[in-house]
Amino acid sequence: MMIKPDGVKRGLVGEIIKRFERKGYIIKELKMMTIPEDKAKEHYRQHQQKPFFDQLIQYITSGPVVGMILEGEDCISGVRTIVGSTDPAKAAPGTIRADYATNIRYNVIHASDSPESAQREIDLFFN
Ligand code: CMP
Repeated sequence: MMIKPDGVKRGLVGEIIKRFERKGYIIKELKMMTIPEDKAKEHYRQHQQKPFFDQLIQYITSGPVVGMILEGEDCISGVRTIVGSTDPAKAAPGTIRADYATNIRYNVIHASDSPESAQREIDLFFN
């Protein structure tokens, strides 16, 4: 998963990490980085045709992010439950996006949606 530039700027890193640690996920790797444009485009390649693509790339490269490899039972679906829906207005109360995000674009956090995308994102950001 990745804490996006708005989450880092707003000082939410500790709060977000705490939620995953308390649930029992193991942090295998943790890295603060500023994503270069080419990696951002590769990461979000499935959104290339979307009208918000350029702004998405601008946003995700606008400042440091914190990337994390988490491990645990049913980690992908469990992490996504803690993160909440992409649109904070639709996110369940108590999820990270419901609690901290106000906008579908600036939604604080990204979480891989399948084992394949997790592997792809790990390869892209953690070599
Ligand atoms: P994420 O879960 O990282 O995956 C794709 C990202 O695109 C999403 O979070 C949002 O930051 C952004 N996004 C998704 N839908 C929209 C939208 N309708 N308008 C603007 N940005 C969006």
